[in-house]
Amino acid sequence: MDVFPQAFDLARAARRIEVFTGAGMSAESGLHTFRDAQTGLWSKVDPIAMASIDSWERDPEPMWAWYLWRAQRCRAVEPNAGHRAIAEWADVAEVSVTTQNIDDLHERGGSADVTHLHGSLFDFRCSHCSRPFNGEVGYPAEPIVRLTPPNCEFCGGLIRPGVVWFGEMLPQRAWRDAEGRMQSADLVVIVGTSGVVQPAASLPLIAREMGTPVLEISPQETELTRYADVSWRTTAAFGLPELVTGLQLDRG
Ligand code: APR
Repeated sequence: MDVFPQAFDLARAARRIEVFTGAGMSAESGLHTFRDAQTGLWSKVDPIAMASIDSWERDPEPMWAWYLWRAQRCRAVEPNAGHRAIAEWADVAEVSVTTQNIDDLHERGGSADVTHLHGSLFDFRCSHCSRPFNGEVGYPAEPIVRLTPPNCEFCGGLIRPGVVWFGEMLPQRAWRDAEGRMQSADLVVIVGTSGVVQPAASLPLIAREMGTPVLEISPQETELTRYADVSWRTTAAFGLPELVTGLQLDRG
């Protein structure tokens, strides 16, 4: 049997869908993934140097410059047809999103219910007292090697990106919400994640262990493929609109 009808049957039967996304979700918007051999962000910079709490504590300026540049890149791109299709799916079923992405493309694509496991590029906070920072950060137009972070207006601490780095805990509330949603879903759709970063990658297994169907949309095999009932080798911006347009036609 062709894969699309299998994927479609799972989608049609589901009323409460949890979509679990990673960097591949935003690839067709023009944002890099992390681990693709040629284009992945981690092929350009050292992940330990740019995404670990130890590096920040040693030398925050390169990381501040890097995350501001990524935030600026994100501001310059648009949600793709996949983001929009997920939002439209919510018109015909109960759909929420758990994402590892720190971009805001799900929200800008129209999804109302999005949980960010790894934080957000746009939620700056004090690295000392944790208060949110609402001042101007001054986005660089070009990649730049170093930038001095602003200081917290309350305690003088350095302002940092509100993202989760290697060596840090995931936000507890987001994690609890994600676990609950994996438990209550009657379909989990995995889109654009290699499934190698824990604990995030363990979330779809909660659904799997409960016997909930899992559909994967990814151009390549991943660490989560073996847990998927159906794995569709396509991209986010192609597969999701196909699926959702089919559902809309089906419901007349
Ligand atoms: N559509 C769907 N999937 C795609 C597309 C696309 N257009 N393009 C690439 N992919 C797939 C890749 O084949 C790969 O399996 O998306 C996946 C991206 O994997 P990673 O680059 O490892 O990204 P991700 O899984 O989100 O990484 C997890 O690692 O570095 C940390 O905190 C960072 O949240 C990130 C986490």
